[in-house]
Amino acid sequence: MDFTPNEIQAAVRDAARRYAQERLAPGARERDRNHAFPKDELREMAALGLMGVNVPESLGGAEAGTVAYSLAMTEIAAGCASTAVTMAVTNMCAELICRAGNEEQKKKYVPRLTSGEYVAGAFALSEPQAGSDPAAMATFAEKRGNRWVLNGAKQWITSGAYAGVMVVWARTSREPGAKGISCFLVEGGTKGLVVGKPESKMGLKASNTVPLTFEACEIPEENLLGNLGEGFKWAMVALDGGRIGIASQAIGIGRAALEAATAYAKERKAFGQPIGEFQAIRWKLADMKTELDAAQLLALRAAWLKENGRPFTREASMAKLFASEAANRAVAEAVQIHGGYGFVDEFPVERHYRDARVTTIYEGTSEIQRLVIAREILRAGG
Ligand code: CAA
Repeated sequence: MDFTPNEIQAAVRDAARRYAQERLAPGARERDRNHAFPKDELREMAALGLMGVNVPESLGGAEAGTVAYSLAMTEIAAGCASTAVTMAVTNMCAELICRAGNEEQKKKYVPRLTSGEYVAGAFALSEPQAGSDPAAMATFAEKRGNRWVLNGAKQWITSGAYAGVMVVWARTSREPGAKGISCFLVEGGTKGLVVGKPESKMGLKASNTVPLTFEACEIPEENLLGNLGEGFKWAMVALDGGRIGIASQAIGIGRAALEAATAYAKERKAFGQPIGEFQAIRWKLADMKTELDAAQLLALRAAWLKENGRPFTREASMAKLFASEAANRAVAEAVQIHGGYGFVDEFPVERHYRDARVTTIYEGTSEIQRLVIAREILRAGG
């Protein structure tokens, strides 16, 4: 077993690290304070291949695979978690169109996402009354002539105000539950697509999260993505991959907090010595590092399975569950190590603490990950 990234994976990781440390990290606090969406930075990242890390070169992607994607996501998140979630959803969108789309759809939309012509993509699945249970969605798409007409409401849509294209799920028949759900490509600015007021969030303040309303929103019939009635399956397939991204993001946030706490522990003195000399602090650092490394191994295993065409649903959920919870423990300890300074926004751990929180919630809560893992265990018999 070889844990060394290959040449391409290392190159993608290093490019992401350089970009994150030189260009993203220095402005992260200001963007967070001002809720400033990083448009310029996202375009620069597209130029580095980061908006389609696992997308074929023929569609403008880097074609570097899911392991490279995971490594890059961790680096970007260590620099700016808000930018990382925007990148995650755009990659998820581009990959889904590559998987489910026909040739015209792929050629039309994927290069616009990977090149930065579209600053972001969005993934409109959740609704006000259907988050953990997306099969309960109510948004409806009705066929009228050669158009689909969408009516309904979506909630918590990352980049919803900026997306050039979004994948939108809607019911296309009266069948209950997961059956009869289809997915569609809706371009930003389409008449009848109403973008609501951005949410005022605890963290990830430089990412954009909005409710969307579809009010007789008409799209051409060719914008059905995948086959009619197969939308739910595509949502699950996309989320399996997306969960590797969020696990990797959580690891990046946790790592940034660990690095800040380590630097602080070496510099801050109490009782006549740096606090890093005290066992109380050393044990915290040791636990943070151990858990974050374990999380990374889980994420890389899931990424490797996906990259090699093996089943990875359970492993992606395990990675997302463990990484998001480990990251939350790490950021909490980082704040604790900083004492009072951890409670003010002069120090980055205050932001990491807030940014990490949502990782146990979006792309499936920890409770949903446990449900998925347990189902897979029972199915496989162990
Ligand atoms: N891959 C492929 N197909 C799958 C699948 C998978 N991983 N999981 C389920 N399916 C298929 C099933 O095989 C089934 O198909 P058949 O009827 O043909 O057999 C169909 O989908 C329905 O499956 P279930 O009966 O298992 O569905 P369910 O209603 O019980 O739900 C669930 C399962 C796992 C709980 C699912 O609802 C779920 O993942 N919930 C969480 C939703 C979520 O993560 N939302 C995140 C929003 S997006 C976001 O957060 C992005 C962002 O902005 C950051």
